Amino acid sequence: MDRPEFDVAVIGAGPGGYVAAIRAAQLGKRTVLIEREAVGGVCLNVGCIPSKALIHTAGLFAELQHAERFGIRLGAPATLDWPAVQAFKQSVVHKLTSGVSQLLKGNGVTLVHGTAAFSSPTQLSVRTPEGEVVIRAEAFIVATGSRPIAIPPFPIDEKRVLSSTGALALDHVPASMSVIGGGVIGLELGMAYARFGTKVSVVEMLDQLLPGVDPEVVRLVARATTKMGMVVHTSATAQRLTPTGMVAQLKDGSEVELPGEVILLSIGRRPNTEGLGLERAGVATDARGYVPVDAQCRTNVRQIFAIGDITPGPMLAHRASKQGIVAAEVIAGRPSAADFATVPGVIFTDPEVATAGLTEAAAKDAGYDVRTARFSFGANGRALGMGRSEGFVKIVADQRTDAVLGIHIVGPSASDLISEAALAIELGATVEDLAAVVHPHPTLPEVVMEAAEALHGKAIHALNRSP
Ligand code: NAI
Repeated sequence: MDRPEFDVAVIGAGPGGYVAAIRAAQLGKRTVLIEREAVGGVCLNVGCIPSKALIHTAGLFAELQHAERFGIRLGAPATLDWPAVQAFKQSVVHKLTSGVSQLLKGNGVTLVHGTAAFSSPTQLSVRTPEGEVVIRAEAFIVATGSRPIAIPPFPIDEKRVLSSTGALALDHVPASMSVIGGGVIGLELGMAYARFGTKVSVVEMLDQLLPGVDPEVVRLVARATTKMGMVVHTSATAQRLTPTGMVAQLKDGSEVELPGEVILLSIGRRPNTEGLGLERAGVATDARGYVPVDAQCRTNVRQIFAIGDITPGPMLAHRASKQGIVAAEVIAGRPSAADFATVPGVIFTDPEVATAGLTEAAAKDAGYDVRTARFSFGANGRALGMGRSEGFVKIVADQRTDAVLGIHIVGPSASDLISEAALAIELGATVEDLAAVVHPHPTLPEVVMEAAEALHGKAIHALNRSP
């Protein structure tokens, strides 16, 4: 059989697929990238990037309302120009997606606009605006991402019932919003709209917001929702739509109507593995539709790799990107593996939350002799100077070896602080190591250092518990 026209075909141009395509091309592979919607996928177009622009604007708006705290008088109250808010957000998306398109071009990646499906283990059939195209390749990387989970009483139409996509593109600030699911999307966007002046109610099925996150951390976020005027019901379920909102059933069985000009459905996402012809390629999926992969991101079919949200694990862009690099490198014959010690997570609530490694509960479950310590931003000069002294860094360590097992941050710039924690865990650092590193003063990362010192009973800017 003659040689296929491509070495690598990547399906899906999100943060997994486009990164994989660029890395494959860097390694000299003839690479084609097939995308049915827009380059950058959900993350760049209707996910991480636009939401962070909107969340930043919401935070700035809130800050301006309290500008006098810093000695700034605005003259008149800050007001929102919503079309300009949307335009700023879109300009960010445009800048990034066009940058990625340039990078693909510059690296010699062939971009095909269309919908791909396997017709055999070595061939794709791609529906393009110009008709059907057959693409053959030596290896394939499937990176088709995920989509929001919907539930019958709340069909997503992106007008009344929104997914995150619709919630990011509203043409006005709604008077009220009912959020179903107090997870990452529900709280990030719920808080942003609360800041813009929307009356936000959240219904969470479990007994804690942000399930899986350290309860001490979540307590601070929950407190912030109340301060923002949000109404949160945990251990509650959304029942049905009403003309002006929705009905939720509370923990005690009673029903309450919550106002909702719009409803945001954010109860998780499911992998996009249907319609891909995976069965024709012989690629196995698990009972929930995910594609199991090994440490090389290889599926059960040797030349077919899968990365990102369609593989079991946290649905996070940075995990997808790293898997994409691994898959491309493995295809190019490099000894690469997705054997990360931690995939940090960041939640852009206000205060921000960021975590790396094991929670205290998970570390105990895993049988470690756990020791923890917390250090507050309230004792950090930089945080005080920013007017952001709420929150803390919590370190979870192995008492026996002093290894850092997990770091959990709630507070200012937690999203930026967590990379030091990830590095510590990835390099197998001890608490002593973290404490010994000279951290510049006055900065927020000093709180990470002081939490490490506190764990050994030697923090300078707090009274230490007796050893
Ligand atoms: P999620 O898994 O974070 O939260 C879903 C929440 O809905 C959970 O708390 C769950 O208990 C609750 N829930 C499920 N069914 C429910 C029901 N019928 N009624 C009420 N509550 C219900 O999922 P989310 O927020 O939709 O986000 C999807 C994915 O996108 C996540 O995997 C997340 O990691 C990712 N994402 C990451 C971001 C980040 O890294 N900053 C930002 C946004 C999304």
